[in-house]
Amino acid sequence: MQSIEGAAIRPGAVRPDCRGSAHGSAVRVRPAPLRVAIVGYGVVGPLHALAYQTMTKTLPGLPRKPEVALVVDPDAAARARACTEWSVPSRPPGAHLWDEFAIDIVDCCAPSNLHASVCSGALSADRSVLCEKPLTGSGDTSAALVALAETRRVTFGVNFNFRCIPALREARRLVRSGALGEIRSLRVEYHRSSNLARHQVGNPPVNVNRGALLDLGPHAIDMVHFLFGAITGVSARTHFHDPCASTAADDIAKMECVLDKGALGSVEVSKMTAGATNDLRVFAYGTEGALRFTSVESDTLDLFQGAQYATAHQRLRFGMGGLDEEIAVIPPETGSSVLTWHAASLAAFARRVAGEDIPIACARDGLGVDRVLDAARTSAARSAVWVPVAA
Ligand SMILES: NC(=O)c1ccc[n+]([C@@H]2O[C@H](COP(=O)([O-])OP(=O)(O)OC[C@H]3O[C@@H](n4cnc5c(N)ncnc54)[C@H](O)[C@@H]3O)[C@@H](O)[C@H]2O)c1
Repeated sequence: MQSIEGAAIRPGAVRPDCRGSAHGSAVRVRPAPLRVAIVGYGVVGPLHALAYQTMTKTLPGLPRKPEVALVVDPDAAARARACTEWSVPSRPPGAHLWDEFAIDIVDCCAPSNLHASVCSGALSADRSVLCEKPLTGSGDTSAALVALAETRRVTFGVNFNFRCIPALREARRLVRSGALGEIRSLRVEYHRSSNLARHQVGNPPVNVNRGALLDLGPHAIDMVHFLFGAITGVSARTHFHDPCASTAADDIAKMECVLDKGALGSVEVSKMTAGATNDLRVFAYGTEGALRFTSVESDTLDLFQGAQYATAHQRLRFGMGGLDEEIAVIPPETGSSVLTWHAASLAAFARRVAGEDIPIACARDGLGVDRVLDAARTSAARSAVWVPVAA
C-alpha cells in the first residue's frame, strides 16, 4: 500500500532507462524520461509541476520527457498537497534522496536564501540543477557554485522565464540586428502590488527574501543583460515604506546604470504599485529606432523606426508562434501566458540536459545578475555612490 507521501523506488531496483513496445517483430524504444525533483512546493513549485505536465503533452518532439518524480519540502502540509495534486512521492529534505529516487534534475524552488545550499548539495551529487531566480543573490556565493558545476558533467541553469516571452525574443533579435541603431538609453521596470496589503496594520513584516531588489530585481536586471548587454556600474537607492518595521526587506529599488557599450539605463522595481499584477516594462531608444513593451499586453511589441520615429510606430503582434520550437502542438496564433513562459524555460533546460545544443539562461547569467545586486546594495548603503560591477 502506498503511504500519503508515496513510494520510493525499491533500493537496488533497476532504473527505468528505456521501455520497449513490440509491434510485430520491431521493438520501439522510448528514451527514458528525465526524473525531476521539485525542491520547495510553495507558490512557484506547483507552477513548475504544472509546466512539466504541460510540456509533456504539448511537446511531442522532446527527446526525453521530464516527469516529476519527487517533491521535497520540510513542511508536511506542502508535501501532502503535492502528493494529492500529482500522486508523486514527497519527502522532507535529505541528501540521500537523489540516489533513492534516481533523480536526473533537481529543480530548486526553495526560498531564495536556501538556493546556495540546495544547489551545492545537488551539484556535488552530480545532478543537473535548474534554480529559480535569484541564483543566490550574492556574487561570491554564486561564483563558487558556478566553479563547482564546472568540475562536474552537469547542466546548471536559472529560470529567467521572462526570456521566453515571444515579443521579448523578437526585441532581442531586433536590437542585435542593429535595426534600432546604437542603443543609447533604456529603461526596465518591474512592478507588483504585493507589499501594499502587507503594510496595512496587523500584517506581518515582509520576509527578507521578499525585498523588491532581491525578489524582483533579478528579472529586471537579467532582462537588461538579455536584451542590451552587461551592466558595468550602478547607482542605486532602496526605499522602505515603513522604516520602523522590523524587516530588512525593501519595498522599492531604483538603479541608474551604465552598460558595457556605453548606454545609460535605469531599472526600477517596486512592490508598492497599486493595481500592478506582474508588470514588466521595457523601453529602449536607439539612434535609428526605439521599442516599447509591457507585459500587460505581453504579445505586443511597439516598434518606432524611420525618419519620423519619434511619433510613427508599428505594433507587432505575437502568439505562441514565437515559441514554436518549444510548444509544438498549441496553435501559433494562441496567446502566450505565464504558464507557457515557464514551460518554455523549463523545456529548454530539459532539452539541454538531454544533450541538445540550445540556448538557456545558465548559471553564469545568474552570477552576472548577482554581481549587479551586490553593487546595487553597496551603492544604496552609501547614498547612491557609483559602484562598478565586479567582473
Ligand atoms: N521565476 C519566477 O517568476 C518566480 C516566481 C515566484 C517565485 N520565484 C522564486 O522561487 C523561489 C520560491 O518562491 P515561492 O514564492 O514559491 O516561495 P514560498 O515561500 O511560497 O515556497 C517555498 C517552499 O519551500 C519550502 N522550503 C523551505 N525550506 C526548504 C528546504 N530546505 N528544502 C526544500 N523546500 C524548502 C517551504 O516550506 C515552502 O513550501 C524563490 O527563490 C523565488 O524568488 C520565482
